[in-house]
Amino acid sequence: MGTEKGNDAAMDAEAATAGGDVTAAGGSMDRGLLRFLTCGSVDDGKSTLIGRLLYDSRLIMDDTLATIAKDSRKHGTVGEEIDLALLVDGLEAERQQGITIDVAYRFFATPRRSFIVADTPGHEQYTRNMATGASNSDLAVILCDARKGLLTQTRRHSTIASLLGIRHVVLAVNKMDLVGFDQAVFDRIVADYTAFAAGFGFATLVAVPLSARFGDNVTVRSPRMAWYAGPTLLEQLEGVDTETDAATRPFRFPVQWVNRPNQDFRGFSGTVASGRVAVGDAVVVAASGRTSRVARILGPDAAQEEASAGEAVTICLADEVDVARGDVLAPPQDRPAVTDQFAAHLLWMDEDPMLPGRQYLMRVGNLWTPVSVTSIRHRIDVNTQKQSPARRLDLNEIGFCNLAAAQRVPLDPYAENRQTGAFVLVDRFTNRTAGAGMVAFSLRRATNIHQEEFLVDKAARAALDHQKPLVLWFTGLSGSGKSTIAKLVEQALHREGRHTYTLDGDNLRHGLNRDLGFTDADRVENIRRVGEVAKLFVDAGLVVLCSFISPFRAERRMVRELMAPGEFIEVFVDTPLEECARRDPKGLYAKAMAGTIKNFTGVSSPYEPPEAPELRVATLGLTPAEAAEAVLVHLRAALAR
Ligand code: ADX
Repeated sequence: MGTEKGNDAAMDAEAATAGGDVTAAGGSMDRGLLRFLTCGSVDDGKSTLIGRLLYDSRLIMDDTLATIAKDSRKHGTVGEEIDLALLVDGLEAERQQGITIDVAYRFFATPRRSFIVADTPGHEQYTRNMATGASNSDLAVILCDARKGLLTQTRRHSTIASLLGIRHVVLAVNKMDLVGFDQAVFDRIVADYTAFAAGFGFATLVAVPLSARFGDNVTVRSPRMAWYAGPTLLEQLEGVDTETDAATRPFRFPVQWVNRPNQDFRGFSGTVASGRVAVGDAVVVAASGRTSRVARILGPDAAQEEASAGEAVTICLADEVDVARGDVLAPPQDRPAVTDQFAAHLLWMDEDPMLPGRQYLMRVGNLWTPVSVTSIRHRIDVNTQKQSPARRLDLNEIGFCNLAAAQRVPLDPYAENRQTGAFVLVDRFTNRTAGAGMVAFSLRRATNIHQEEFLVDKAARAALDHQKPLVLWFTGLSGSGKSTIAKLVEQALHREGRHTYTLDGDNLRHGLNRDLGFTDADRVENIRRVGEVAKLFVDAGLVVLCSFISPFRAERRMVRELMAPGEFIEVFVDTPLEECARRDPKGLYAKAMAGTIKNFTGVSSPYEPPEAPELRVATLGLTPAEAAEAVLVHLRAALAR
């Protein structure tokens, strides 16, 4: 190791500490930071390999540092500082993505390059961890055991890596010592892998035969595999040109917050996601299409002329344009799509399955919005790449889906921009990160369809009927008495001169919903359609009685949110399961318990009782008329308000 290279390393180190800017350093310098992840299991020798890399590179560093120390006393300590800063930055980036999982980040450096290695657990169920590690890595080291060749998990890891936009792969064929350093073994594995990975479009794919345990071809060329002419693992890591330079992409600036300390100052703060921007540049607010020019760029300490990917800055515009948190600034001639319907790959990470029609919260950049999957185009088998139809996605499954968001959001295809093309889905009840998505393309479904404004509206229609339109939503087990009570309530309302309509599970399932059964996915869709119909009837000015098991909180909440405040009255018809089974008005419980009806609510399918219904009617000991009266009393009070 020469002094010249040593100085390079010191410069990199200074740049990294001074700017605190990991991404830009990695992107813009040839030998800058490389973020990579290792995939494989303990059995493959992953820990040994990482240990070996860290240990050997330390030796190389120490050697170099000793040389540099003669020239300058300062670098030794800088070495320590970067270590920490970069590690912390790495974690911060993950945290901001909204996914903090079990991934260990380690920093190490050689005179040629610095590295952050994301080490993720290798078991099958840890797809989620791997996805986290992969989402901002440039390269994956995929480990396999020379004795075993390609395993299911090798394929799985490669699929996820490719899906998450990793374009550089090193296939590390480990434990060559245990196969007698046999070239034939290595060649066979490489041929298998090359054939398997052909469709992934990796920009570089280099296979290295090595022994992590003895250090062969890790950092030092192995004399025992003279037949191998390629680079050592470290040489490949040091030399690979990842070129996924965020700075060469179109400028994207997701606004994190609007900075307005007083009347005279208004700036938009955030981190440049990609590209660069300079004072004087024209920019457009993606969602609104309003354009302006960059008047000033403020860095952490002072004003600056320009800013590029990874830099946290505050941008002031020349004009007073409306910009809110979550908006994206972009060049007018190169804007992201602004869309509420798009296709994306979705990697599901939650124990609860993803059901089309169910609402989740989508976080893309700094923007949160409700979203649901409208259809699963296909599921992708991560082991075989095969596509198959699917009605739901379970933990660790990957689907190619159509999604619909509650508002239009600026998006780029993930292949073009890993920042503005990635999103996470959050479960609205548990707040868990439930899925990770990669945008494929925007769908033009609703873009040419406008909402027609009518001359007669809900208020006018309701006024004619002298009533306040609303939804009475009866939920409860089958046989709990929902329909019976709803019928009596409707009759009483009708006599009072109210204009009503009833939507009932059994009835709708003969018409509008006759294509639906009783899987979780079908029940979600059932309630989604009912919700939309109820909304139309409320708009027509009616008092709508809905009587559906509606077993899931998520869908009841979704219907509630379709209505205006106060328009949704949830009535929990609370009858114990034993009592419903005893009454068994349709003989269904008997069949369900005998196993002839599958997915029967309360028996073989869940019911989630409401946590805060407007009204709970415990029917035990009440006659249907008394139960109906309880609803009417509540309703009259609500109508009087
Ligand atoms: S929901 O779960 O999707 O809300 P919905 O209220 O439309 O169900 O329909 C429930 C009615 O379908 C029940 O009252 C019962 O008559 C009938 N049914 C048939 N099979 C089932 C089943 N597996 N689970 C629940 N109800 C069933």
